[in-house]
Amino acid sequence: MITVSDTGIGIPEEDLPRLGDEFFRAKNAKRSGIAGTGLGLSIVTQLVERFGGSIKVDSVEGEGTTVKLTLPLGELPSDDSEA
Ligand SMILES: Nc1ncnc2c1ncn2[C@@H]1O[C@H](COP(=O)(O)OP(=O)(O)O)[C@@H](O)[C@H]1O
Ligand SMILES: [Mg+2]
Repeated sequence: MITVSDTGIGIPEEDLPRLGDEFFRAKNAKRSGIAGTGLGLSIVTQLVERFGGSIKVDSVEGEGTTVKLTLPLGELPSDDSEA
């Protein structure tokens, strides 16, 4: 599990379900003048899910954001795997 937290602008509650949508940016992010494409979380969500993991975002507008990625453990290579 990887957890990243900040004390930034946070995300309005009603925007949380749409963070994985391509090109979606929360209204406070658009208002802030901070540049962005709305693609980062969409790409990360797709990658993590393809590896069998999940992503969870907790946020309070004006206080900060925590993103938790959970990825399954891989299998260790067997002893005869080296050529
Ligand atoms: N750490 C964060 N703090 C506040 N809002 C965030 C944060 N990370 C993502 N967001 C919100 O989610 C939206 C989508 O994020 P992302 O896909 O990374 O796009 P971008 O960063 O290019 O705008 C952002 O526009 C913003 O509204
Ligand atoms: Mg981003």
